[in-house]
Amino acid sequence: MTRSEKVGQLVQLDGSHGYPPDYLGERLRAGGLGSVINNANPDIVKELQRIAVEESRLGIPLLIGRDVIHGFRHVLPIPLGQAATWNPELVLAGARVAAEEAARAGINWTFAPMMDVTRDPRWGRVAECLGEDPHLASELAAAMVRGFQTDDPSAPTAIAACAKHFAGYGGVDAGRDYDTTNLPRNELRNVHLRPFRAAVEAGALSLMTSFSEIDGMPCTASRFLLRQVLRDEWGFEGLVVSDWDSVRQLSIHGLTADDREAAREACEAGVDIEMQGEAYAHHLEELIESGQIAEALLDAAVSNVLRVKCLLGLFERPFVDNDTLPAPDPVRMRATARETARQSLVLLKNHDNLLPLDRGRLKNVALLGPLADAPYQQLGTWIFDGDASLSVTLRQALGEQLGDDIELSYLRVFEHSRSRDTRDMAAACELAAHADVVVLGLGEESILSGEAHSRADIDLPGAQRELVHAVRAAGKPVVGVILAGRPLTLSNVINDFDALLYAWHPGIEAGPAITEVLLGDVSPSGKLPITFPSVVGQVPIYYNHKMTGKPPLPGQVAHIDSLHTRAPQTSLGMSAYHLDAGHRPQFPFGFGLSYGQFHYHDLQLDRHALSVGETLGITVRVTNHGAQAGDEVAQLYVRDLVGNVTRPVRELKGFERVSIGVGETVTVHFELHSEDLGFYDRNDEWRVEPGAFQLWVGGDSDADLESGFYLHPAA
Ligand code: BGC
Repeated sequence: MTRSEKVGQLVQLDGSHGYPPDYLGERLRAGGLGSVINNANPDIVKELQRIAVEESRLGIPLLIGRDVIHGFRHVLPIPLGQAATWNPELVLAGARVAAEEAARAGINWTFAPMMDVTRDPRWGRVAECLGEDPHLASELAAAMVRGFQTDDPSAPTAIAACAKHFAGYGGVDAGRDYDTTNLPRNELRNVHLRPFRAAVEAGALSLMTSFSEIDGMPCTASRFLLRQVLRDEWGFEGLVVSDWDSVRQLSIHGLTADDREAAREACEAGVDIEMQGEAYAHHLEELIESGQIAEALLDAAVSNVLRVKCLLGLFERPFVDNDTLPAPDPVRMRATARETARQSLVLLKNHDNLLPLDRGRLKNVALLGPLADAPYQQLGTWIFDGDASLSVTLRQALGEQLGDDIELSYLRVFEHSRSRDTRDMAAACELAAHADVVVLGLGEESILSGEAHSRADIDLPGAQRELVHAVRAAGKPVVGVILAGRPLTLSNVINDFDALLYAWHPGIEAGPAITEVLLGDVSPSGKLPITFPSVVGQVPIYYNHKMTGKPPLPGQVAHIDSLHTRAPQTSLGMSAYHLDAGHRPQFPFGFGLSYGQFHYHDLQLDRHALSVGETLGITVRVTNHGAQAGDEVAQLYVRDLVGNVTRPVRELKGFERVSIGVGETVTVHFELHSEDLGFYDRNDEWRVEPGAFQLWVGGDSDADLESGFYLHPAA
């Protein structure tokens, strides 16, 4: 390869405008382009690939990249909703659906999964992530990688996954997208890097750098992240791509003075492909000629890219031959979308068992709100190729299921979720007054979350809160169904709902999945993958926090409304909480109600002492005392009581989704290997530290069925 052909393999350009073969063709023929992003038109993609393979000197096929984040044409729940299923097999199946459809368009590389751990629901990209917990995110990210790539990435419907955004992006200041992150090294390693390691171990062929900076180093120039951690410690052999133009942005950050320096910093740090930017194309050759970058660096980067192309089988099969692929099965795709939506729904409140609704006692149901019949909005963020005509809304599905004998009166009330125009409120209240039950379809339209769509106030937007209050005053039972791309703060509306179902953005099958749960054909089984704050000022609030030297003690947490003006300071509890919001979130991580009633009992450990290198067996029995069968997600939490660095008050170490019939008891098994108890210590080294541990099992992160064990040094 000539030097310019090598550099060409590191260049990725946008193919979304006009007819790209016209303007990318010459670059391709000259061997100056290794990858194209953002064109999913099968004919155009094929033509670009043909030029690369047939008309360039070396005939190296192209990587065709696209953000296929939660489905291609058939849109599944947003990743945060998928995380609420706590079901890796289902998440894997969803990634298969996405890959099968995308591959048929000639796409061979997706920019997913995103596994940035975040504790900040203000951040718009919380919609795309897999929640706040490193263990849950690791399991689900690995499942997505396997779903996209399969066991054989060269298979015709496999596409390369991209673990993103490396790293710490979820920690952006105040949840403002693209902003600076301030993450201590120890937290970075013990929390934020873990899902990336899991993705690498699952075989992810690529990884994307983050837009953000940590400790003064933009991640796109971080040798610590890209060389020390990723290559040296983890042995990653795939390719690293920058984020969109993030190489040239090194100069905007103020790390470099111009594109030339930016190219040098990124290349030296270990960015193989520059996404949509020309710093590499314009400067790498000259940087090598002038001796400022070693040729070996270029060779290593090119090898990483070519290795991935080989593993994808592109040299043998650069074109997709749809005739030889199994026919797409829309029935199965829709079924996967439905099952994922079903399992993603989290029941947050169910006063007096209002849900499931009893069809036999209903004559009139009022369905109100801007998200109840919004085929596009229910799909959520990142749906470049999503087909909203495949959507079934709540209004459609509920209407169908209620049949002719029960009247469904519908009013959208607001044009969109942000609307403050209250002119339809009186009519809405009128409908509510005449109904047996009111269902409110509320939340955020898709534009309010996702990249560059952060919010500082995460209450229900627009005048929806007023609608909830007004409808409540009509005196009928009120069921809230919230579609949103993030946890919303609900403290000022929660009391007005008798029942509340959190649906995230559920994708095309929103309507049928929600209807099944409202009418009791399916018991809700989603669990929160992220803590819900009660007010935004609590953020960041997360379950796996540290103990601090002054943890809030029950009974010693004062409230602003009951303070005596001259109360001595010590009467305030002197601990870590807010005077006006306490220390508890609105809903804890892992929480979710069911129509079943699950009782955890008989927690047993197969021993109470083990040695490093050994595995602890844990069993618990779960009985369903409720009137309906359902799934429950049993969760295992552990606390390391004394550590070389302080350890979280609880950490999720295992989870298991089980189906339990009425009156039935199932036994759930967990295995905890001593390695699962390891962490990075004060010297940045991995250690599995002997000592005492506490353990809890239950249905959320407040689980109180407790035991403990002791870990001894290796025998
Ligand atoms: C986003 C990435 C995405 C890329 C390509 C960037 O702005 O941060 O997540 O993959 O664009 O669309």
